[in-house]
Amino acid sequence: MDFSLNDDQQMIQAAARDFASQEIAPTARQFDESGEFPLANIRKAGELGFMGVEVPEQYGGAGLDPVSFCLMIEEVAAADAAHSTIISVNNSLYCNGIVQFGTEAQRQQFVRPIATGAEIGCYGLTEPQSGSDAGNMRTRATLSADGSHYVVNGKKSWITSGPVARYMLLFATVDPARGPKGVTAFLLDTQQPGYVRGRTEPKLGIRASATCEVEFANYRLPVANRLGEEGQGFQIAMTVLDAGRIGIAAQAVGIARAAYEASVQYARERKAFGSTIGSFQMIQAKIADMKCRLDAARLLTWRAAWHKREAARQGTRNTTEASVAKLFASETAMYCAHQAVQIHGGMGYSQELPVERYFRDAKITEIYEGTSEIQRLVIARQETGLR
Ligand code: CAA
Repeated sequence: MDFSLNDDQQMIQAAARDFASQEIAPTARQFDESGEFPLANIRKAGELGFMGVEVPEQYGGAGLDPVSFCLMIEEVAAADAAHSTIISVNNSLYCNGIVQFGTEAQRQQFVRPIATGAEIGCYGLTEPQSGSDAGNMRTRATLSADGSHYVVNGKKSWITSGPVARYMLLFATVDPARGPKGVTAFLLDTQQPGYVRGRTEPKLGIRASATCEVEFANYRLPVANRLGEEGQGFQIAMTVLDAGRIGIAAQAVGIARAAYEASVQYARERKAFGSTIGSFQMIQAKIADMKCRLDAARLLTWRAAWHKREAARQGTRNTTEASVAKLFASETAMYCAHQAVQIHGGMGYSQELPVERYFRDAKITEIYEGTSEIQRLVIARQETGLR
């Protein structure tokens, strides 16, 4: 087995590392404090090809593989998790699903401007009463009598980039009585009447990644904006999440790495009881455990990315590998951030260092794109074949 990276992968990793250290890291604290959306940095990410890494070049993307996407996300997340959330959702939850399930016209209209970073995309699945139970949605799309358009009414919540996105991949039901089998996917322009943004949510972490509720008030959608067939939406939503969860795994690896590297540096420098604290066995044990989990999380993430491409080639699913990577990497991010605060002591609790931000940012990776409980459910169902 060869773990070396090919030329394209090394190139995007190096470009992302430069971008992250020069543009993102110096501004991360300021964006965390203000909660302002980092629009200029996101535009630059678009110019570098980071907003549509796996999107084919004819639709404005970089045409690279899923491992390249993970390498880029890890670098960005190590500098600032909020930036990596915006970039990951744009790539995996928005662009990739439309490339996979869209018509040629839909790809040209809805992918090209988003993959180039000229506009931002978002994903509308969650509702106030349905997070984990995603198939149980109430937002309704009703076909007009003449069959030319749908009228959408309802509410979506926790929409990443909702306050700034130009387009949304929306999931709504055409018949609530059918449960997941009524769910249908649509592409919509947020600048049309009937798309009403709620307030930007104040959050514990990833504060510069803007999140809001969206209400649909008689929003009219041409039938040509339906993605796939009526009733195919839940399968599309889940397939897209099988990709998105790999992005969150890569983000978690980036946060874990930042926490780990800060801890190693601090353990080398900080003195107590006449010694450098890194020579104490209790600190050594923490460093060793962080390192093992970090390496394992990265390898699981790369494996999931590799599987994603193979699954696409073979027409199979990469559900288990994505959930394994997302579960393990997100718990690793939380573990490493927790240990990093402990190693830093009072300094870990202070806003003078970014360690407390890693701790706040890590938590979301165990929640969004499927909680750790949902990942365990998915993995166990896949392994046992039982429900
Ligand atoms: N790929 C393709 N099809 C899939 C699938 C997958 N990964 N998972 C399920 N399906 C299909 C099933 O095969 C089934 O189809 P059939 O009826 O034809 O057999 C259908 O979908 C229904 O599946 P289930 O019966 O398993 O559905 P369920 O209601 O039991 O729910 C679940 C399954 C795994 C719990 C799912 O609801 C789930 O993943 N919940 C979590 C949702 C989630 O991750 N939300 C995050 C929102 S995105 C976000 O976080 C915002 C952001 O911006 C970052």
